[in-house]
Amino acid sequence: MDRIMSLIIKLTILSVLSTVVKTDFPLDFDVPDVEIERSDSETMFRLPEDLDPIHYDAEITPYFEATSNREAFTFDGLVTIYLRAMKSGINSLIVQENVREILHITVTDEANLPILLNLTNPFERLRQFHFLRINLRDGVTLENNRVYKLTIGYLGNINETPLSRGVFRGSYKGSDGRLHWYAATHLQPTNSRQVFPSFDEPGFKSTFNITIYRPIHFTESYSNMRIAESTVVGDRVKEVFHQTPRMSAYLVTFHISEEFTVIADNNDAARPYRILARPNARGQGEYALEVGPPLTRWFEEYFGIDYYTMGPDMKNDQIAVPDWASGATENWGFVSYRELRLLYEEGETNALDMKSIATITAHELAHKWFGNLVTCRWWDNVWINEGFASYFEYFAMDGVDPSMELEAQFNVFYLQSALSADQSASTRALQHTVNTPAQVTGHFSGISYSKGASLLLMLKHFVTENTFRKALNYFLVDRSYEHAFPFHLYESFAKAVAEDSTVDRSINMTEFITYWVEERGYPVLNVNVNMNTGLIELTQERFFISASAQTTDQAWHLPLTYTTGSNPDWNNLKASEVMTSKTHRIQKEARHEWVIFNLQQKGIYRVNYDTHNWEMIASALKQNRESIHYLNRAQIVDDVFALMRSERITFNLGFQILEFLKNETNFFVWYPAISGFTWLRNRFLHLPDTLAEFDSILLGYLNAVVNELGYDVRPSDSHTTILNRFYILSFACNIGHEGCLNNAVEKFAALRTNGVSVNPNLRRHVFCEGLRDGGYEDWRFLYQRRLNSNNMGDQVAMLRALGCTTNERAIQEFLQMVLSDDVKAQDRVNALTFLYMGDRNNAKIALQFVKQRVDDIRRAVVLPAWFDNVLINLASYLDEEGLQDMETWLRANQATIPEFQTGLNAITSARTNMQWGTDRASAILRAARGSAAIAVPTIMLLLTTSIAMMLR
Ligand SMILES: *[C@@H]1O[C@H](CO)[C@@H](O)[C@H](O)[C@H]1NC(C)=O
Ligand SMILES: *[C@@H]1O[C@H](CO)[C@@H](O)[C@H](O)[C@H]1NC(C)=O
Ligand SMILES: [Zn+2]
Repeated sequence: MDRIMSLIIKLTILSVLSTVVKTDFPLDFDVPDVEIERSDSETMFRLPEDLDPIHYDAEITPYFEATSNREAFTFDGLVTIYLRAMKSGINSLIVQENVREILHITVTDEANLPILLNLTNPFERLRQFHFLRINLRDGVTLENNRVYKLTIGYLGNINETPLSRGVFRGSYKGSDGRLHWYAATHLQPTNSRQVFPSFDEPGFKSTFNITIYRPIHFTESYSNMRIAESTVVGDRVKEVFHQTPRMSAYLVTFHISEEFTVIADNNDAARPYRILARPNARGQGEYALEVGPPLTRWFEEYFGIDYYTMGPDMKNDQIAVPDWASGATENWGFVSYRELRLLYEEGETNALDMKSIATITAHELAHKWFGNLVTCRWWDNVWINEGFASYFEYFAMDGVDPSMELEAQFNVFYLQSALSADQSASTRALQHTVNTPAQVTGHFSGISYSKGASLLLMLKHFVTENTFRKALNYFLVDRSYEHAFPFHLYESFAKAVAEDSTVDRSINMTEFITYWVEERGYPVLNVNVNMNTGLIELTQERFFISASAQTTDQAWHLPLTYTTGSNPDWNNLKASEVMTSKTHRIQKEARHEWVIFNLQQKGIYRVNYDTHNWEMIASALKQNRESIHYLNRAQIVDDVFALMRSERITFNLGFQILEFLKNETNFFVWYPAISGFTWLRNRFLHLPDTLAEFDSILLGYLNAVVNELGYDVRPSDSHTTILNRFYILSFACNIGHEGCLNNAVEKFAALRTNGVSVNPNLRRHVFCEGLRDGGYEDWRFLYQRRLNSNNMGDQVAMLRALGCTTNERAIQEFLQMVLSDDVKAQDRVNALTFLYMGDRNNAKIALQFVKQRVDDIRRAVVLPAWFDNVLINLASYLDEEGLQDMETWLRANQATIPEFQTGLNAITSARTNMQWGTDRASAILRAARGSAAIAVPTIMLLLTTSIAMMLR
């Protein structure tokens, strides 16, 4: 699955689901997640392990239209599960199901002789747990190690939107202007039970024979495997698919449609690779086809296990689905993607979305080994699936196309986002107990993806790449077609490391990895250098972003890398020492020079230095920033913002270090800088004077980089230069950079009046500023352009821009649009957020709309957790007046708004955030303003910090 915004959209299965990036988002959820009360009954959600499902035969007959005895959007199901009894004396069978209706059940032995069911109570549905219990007749039991067949006839639902997962329907407008239907499946993580009664936990593996009876006027259906036979039966075609490899039930999939088709094909019978989509997306599959086959090869070589021999007759299809709840899902043989994540169109798709197509393809293909072939035993360790897929998302694609600089991009998009996801007191460990479907889905979150992947990167550099690769190979070979516990992975590492002797013998690999997996959070390394003696004193402690958090006695195994000012070496990434306790000492030669730890930021920790070392770094950055590796400049920027927020360094010192940004032009350095500045700026939104001055200071930081990048894409630009311009200009325009604004408005006018196409890598800010500056007619122009667009990436870019309007009539129409079919269910929460982000007054108007249409909105966003996000996001963009209005409304309607407490909590967070800004505004302005000028006397520093602390 994809990774990301668990905080914003808790149900996101791949963080790429959401197009709203964290940087854009003013609200921090430093409040503990409301954990559902844990109780013993929770483990009730887990299946007993007395039966082993060996094989499923499943037949599905969908109804897209009502018939005399079937409702539209339902299906008939018939499943036979071949089960092996794992003990004797079993008198009742439990499977999971969440279907519409159970019609009939039989149990037989292998010779088809019936096993009698209880006469009065043959089966019970325990709906709360999604359990189906089949009761055998008194005295009848299953025998240990014998195989039985459980056959169940049932009715299922074709859900209205992808957000409900299971089998769902979607539609798109064809070239004939008509709506065309399709049914698709999304079973990860706990939804195979909606398709058939099943053993719906990753630890159970089976083979599956799928049969579909599709309407005769539809095109051929697709599933994990190829069609083995196809016969006409009445007004339907019976399609029998080949048997899948042994796999978990959540990896089953099928797709039944009027006209989906292959839009790109490598035409290689031995190593087939195809892109499928709606037919009018033809021409948009070439890029996905360009990266997929080389990625598959890359994985085969790296892991030493071929893809196409994982099962007989393996195929490797990737399908673009217009309606999809997450970013993509790794169904074996038939991976599904949200259209935006697979389809590329020259001149329409921007570099960021293009990169996502490449990396998400890599992510999903990596799952064929980590996830499909070997699967975590239970979702408490989902990081074993998602951490590996996320790691290879960047590193496999880097092997295929180094020009995207993905190894370096990993730092800002994964490692730094892991540091940020894992810095609150309420964070979770990689290994985290989950039982209920909601808990399971919640653990498909930032931590499992970003921290999991970052841990693997740190491990690779610690044990060296060859040993890393060897360990993965041992693990994959050992656990193929089985599930794995974490200890299987640790043992593989221990074995590879013992053979290669790449790590000091005193280090126990199991203990090393276990600590990172089972402990919450990560450390900050405090570095104190004695310039006279060369003694470096190190301490580590858990890093909390909140200055008031209690310290803990945690101590991680920290691989240490560092270099020094007089003899910098940035490329020796193998740890020189491992810190295993809270304190450590390193003796280097006595010299007046800076030290920098965590080279190229390959380790999961932040670094703080004594003031003098920081000052030397600041001055080196200012005099010759290139003397420090760009990834360490990026690290320093990211750490400095976090250290200022957590009050580990003063704003004065922080801004003194950040001063060098005024000359910086590097993408990797600016990316965390934009995040950091945006975070601070969002705390001043309610203070117009402060905001105006802060923005004018920030403009001073941006001049050099804006000048260097210019307002147009150049043929000679590298991929990251294009990304840099994309983010820099969006930020610059947003804070009122005059050159940026003028250029954007000019480009928008040229598009509107003369049809001059805007480069997709400039559209975010050009469209947004065009509408901010424009009136209703401009809005309507872009609205119409979006309706006419055939490219999902461009449509999402325009949806975002439509929220930038400040025209009252346009805002009202935007809100109506969000509730209509013009915006797909998966995009509605984001669409509302785009509107709040567009302009500060928009949130207030949206609030009135939410108040009037609360029930319609709840329905439109489908999932309770997504509706929570509507309230949370709204609160985060309101000013105090708006918050009071929202609070009054929630308190008055507690009886009809079950989510009112979530709303009230969000209001409290919003007020806390504003207060944070109010309390620190003058200190931050002084630091930011004065960063060019005189260093503030130490006594002043002490004074400001202690005042700040008293005010908390
Ligand atoms: C499942 O399909 C395979 C062919 O793909 C066939 O050999 C096997 O017999 C089928 N299994 C059952 C139980 O029908
Ligand atoms: C490493 O630590 C684990 C867990 O503490 C222990 O079971 C194992 O025996 C240790 N291995 C070695 C080689 O000492
Ligand atoms: Zn994944």
